[in-house]
Amino acid sequence: MKRTALVTGGTRGLGRQIAIDLQAAGYQVVVVYHNNAEAAAEFTRTTSIPAISWDVADFEACRLGVAHVERDYGAIDILVNDAGITRDAVLHRMTEDQWWQVINTNLGSMFNMCRNVIEGMRTRGFGRVINISSINGEKGQIGQANYAAAKAGILGFTRTLALESARKNITVNAIAPGYCDTEMVAAVPEEVLKTIIDNIPVGRLGTPEDIARMVTFLADDNAGFITGATIEINGGQYMS
Ligand code: CAA
Repeated sequence: MKRTALVTGGTRGLGRQIAIDLQAAGYQVVVVYHNNAEAAAEFTRTTSIPAISWDVADFEACRLGVAHVERDYGAIDILVNDAGITRDAVLHRMTEDQWWQVINTNLGSMFNMCRNVIEGMRTRGFGRVINISSINGEKGQIGQANYAAAKAGILGFTRTLALESARKNITVNAIAPGYCDTEMVAAVPEEVLKTIIDNIPVGRLGTPEDIARMVTFLADDNAGFITGATIEINGGQYMS
């Protein structure tokens, strides 16, 4: 029987390619989106992958959403926590709302989603959790105190859940992408982005495929000895 993979933020950006690659690798894939119903409809039309809407910042919505997916598509074997937002501003101008929106969506979602799948994975004795962090959670970035804090928090969360889950054949890993060719990065002011690309040793933005390839690798049944890792995919821009 096909394993089932759930990808949050799966209709656009990195998540879209992650979902497409997992489907190509033979998994039954379901994605979660939040607001952009038009993009979700186009995604499902072109991929046949079902897209379900809920807010990953809301614990109860995640509980109901996970139950819905498990009822209609089977137990979740692979969870990819990709959903994330930016609300960039230097701290001396950042609002409380910009802070909490990013913390709740990018970091709160880790608890909200993992808490609702982990018991089932433990009972079944198999699981793959792949959390999408960021280069900016490792090195910091002007204008992203909220985002960098959330993405750094993901790394501690990942290591802890990896330790707690290791005996149950569940791996938990983080990927820290660098700047990739997505809508999120396209929203960075042009002159700022040019400086960033000038500082990427390989001389280009990453592609969604660069990241999706690693997700598929980590999702595999045979990747069971990789856990608690942070895999950096950033064209050499930051080496920890
Ligand atoms: N050193 C110190 N301070 C600096 C600085 C520098 N090199 N560059 C800018 N600043 C600070 C200054 O303190 C200045 O504030 P004051 O005017 O009060 O002194 C402020 O930044 C600049 O203000 P501006 O009016 O020029 O710019 P802004 O407030 O409109 O925007 C910004 C600033 C939000 C940081 C903007 O430049 C920006 O969006 N930068 C991009 C941030 C970024 O890389 N985001 C990544 C998004 S993609 C992503 O997140 C995916 C991923 O994982 C990689």
